[in-house]
Amino acid sequence: MTTPHINAPADTFAELCLLPGDPLRAKFIAERFLDNAQCVTDVRNMLGYTGTYKGQPVSVMGTGMGIPSCSIYATELIRHYGVSKLVRLGSCGAVLPHINLHDIILAQGACTDSGVNRQRFNNFDFAAIADFQLLRKVAEHAERSAVNVRVGNVFSADLFYQSDPALRSRLAQMGILGVEMEAAGLYGVAAEHGVSALTVLTVSDHIERGEAMSSQERQLGFSAMVELTLDALI
Ligand code: HPA
Repeated sequence: MTTPHINAPADTFAELCLLPGDPLRAKFIAERFLDNAQCVTDVRNMLGYTGTYKGQPVSVMGTGMGIPSCSIYATELIRHYGVSKLVRLGSCGAVLPHINLHDIILAQGACTDSGVNRQRFNNFDFAAIADFQLLRKVAEHAERSAVNVRVGNVFSADLFYQSDPALRSRLAQMGILGVEMEAAGLYGVAAEHGVSALTVLTVSDHIERGEAMSSQERQLGFSAMVELTLDALI
């Protein structure tokens, strides 16, 4: 049984699925970090793979960009493929002066300008939060491995090209560690289905300072985050 957006046979996804935005990042993770990785879905070129890490089954699939795209894949993975641990691996922009390119952020909570969680929650403000066990495992593993991570709130924006300086300074004032486009949606989907989710981000640009990683730096930063996450959870 397949879904409108995933053509994998039944039982081909692992309980744990890593979710980069870019499907080619999913391919890169599968080929570089997993053993015996098989491509299990390719609808719209949104590639998904299942393999093993230290002998344990792990899947990885692209989500596309933005809350609607990410929510579609997360919902179908949960409802039809039994995925119960969803870990987004992404990039974000920083607005705070003490946050730098390459910093790794664990999104404990995700604020948003999207209406999706209000739609789910009788128009009330839903506190979109990471699963504590997943968050704790990654935070503790980072501490043991002397990898510096920051844990706190992020902002999942609908607009990538956001030009309002007042919003940026408000986000900074409220302690937002990073701006990305999916976490609040992923956490809402996970809550609705009673499963676990976490978002791990590498700071790829500094919005206020106008800094950005080169593509080679992105690849290296991304690999550090993948390794941290896999070693923490497997
Ligand atoms: N905004 C939204 N999403 C992002 C950004 C950003 O500045 N950087 C990386 N992902």
